[in-house]
Amino acid sequence: MTQFRSILVTGGAGFIGSNFILQWLSAQSAAVVNLDLLTYAGNPENLASVRGTERYQLTRGDICDAECVRSLLREHRPGAIVHFAAESHVDRSITGPDAFVRTNVQGTFTLLEQARHYWATLDEAARQSFRFLHVSTDEVYGTLGPDDPAFSETTPYAPNSPYAASKAASDHFARAYFHTFGLPVLTTNCSNNYGPYQFPEKLIPLMILNALEGKPLPVYGDGQNVRDWLFVEDHCSAIRAVLERGRPGETYNIGGNSERKNLDVVTTLCDLVDELRPNPAIGSRRKLITYVKDRPGHDRRYAIDARKITREIGWQPSEQFESGLRKTVAWYLDNDAWVQSVRTGAYMEWIQKNYGERVAQ
Ligand code: NAD
Ligand code: TYD
Repeated sequence: MTQFRSILVTGGAGFIGSNFILQWLSAQSAAVVNLDLLTYAGNPENLASVRGTERYQLTRGDICDAECVRSLLREHRPGAIVHFAAESHVDRSITGPDAFVRTNVQGTFTLLEQARHYWATLDEAARQSFRFLHVSTDEVYGTLGPDDPAFSETTPYAPNSPYAASKAASDHFARAYFHTFGLPVLTTNCSNNYGPYQFPEKLIPLMILNALEGKPLPVYGDGQNVRDWLFVEDHCSAIRAVLERGRPGETYNIGGNSERKNLDVVTTLCDLVDELRPNPAIGSRRKLITYVKDRPGHDRRYAIDARKITREIGWQPSEQFESGLRKTVAWYLDNDAWVQSVRTGAYMEWIQKNYGERVAQ
């Protein structure tokens, strides 16, 4: 990719987006314009260390707002768009799917449409080097049985949750904009991420914080569901590699080669919290594990076959799951001010809504 002065990142105040921006600014020279609506999941404090610097700017705005996107593109003339903005939590997509259709489908469509018009105004060299990178999920492929081969880029789409369906729809629009209009779109489908700055409604940070405070650890169903975990910094380096060396029109699966059952993840977290923050009044955190009512339509197993990105682009994950989990627990224990800042009234309302009726099984 030829050198450009800036990139536009959407959803950069969320979990993966903020890790991406921090990594980008320390590794690359181009500036970052972050377009984020700052929903409950967006937290500008994640980027406090770069706020006010010349190479970083946050605009609070909605990807569904065509005029807002158009004027940002016109003003900054970025060389790439990296699109993270989404509603991202499966449980919330079950209690309120509307926002998922709006942001994930309508928002992605609006962004693609504005990108297409902007791209048409570029000179030939800039048109050639421009990239629209659409960040998606492995959940579009549905669920696997215990012995099924892992998801590859040719696995048929079979989304099972409103979240997965909305991401699948957005992937189809991204694909169509390459085939119909020639917009240089790349799509990445990644497995479950974990690491610093993840909002504590997702499995790993929720369990760390509950274990720390001696609260019940709500495991859905029998706890035997499998996810393929990837340390967030590895995901960010994969996105940078795809931006640099990916072929427009292609999709790339990204995974961590770390399939784990939920129950095993939770017991490992219990042991780490016991080791790093022993509390005699609580004792062994394992006894806090509580089986609760399952998630409707709960996908049994996800696993990623990441051979294409390794073969074509030379990327592979560098963090082992156990060391990444230890770093993550240590980060949450060391960043109490961040934790308290995100556990606002809206967060407590969600916890009550999702877990209030999930009585222990
Ligand atoms: P997140 O929920 O932590 O962050 C989403 C961000 O998007 C927030 O900052 C939010 O304010 C912003 N946003 C939401 N609606 C918006 C709108 N209409 N306009 C502008 N900004 C808006 O999500 P995440 O976990 O960082 O995920 C980022 C992307 O990666 C998503 O597209 C998600 O589908 C994908 N993904 C996530 C995972 C994972 O494990 N977290 C795995 C694979 C793929
Ligand atoms: P989650 O972090 O919501 O990610 P996703 O649903 O996108 O995979 O959940 C990861 C796994 O953990 C999933 O199988 C659901 C399960 N889970 C629980 O058992 N208890 C919980 O409180 C949460 C939030 C998730």
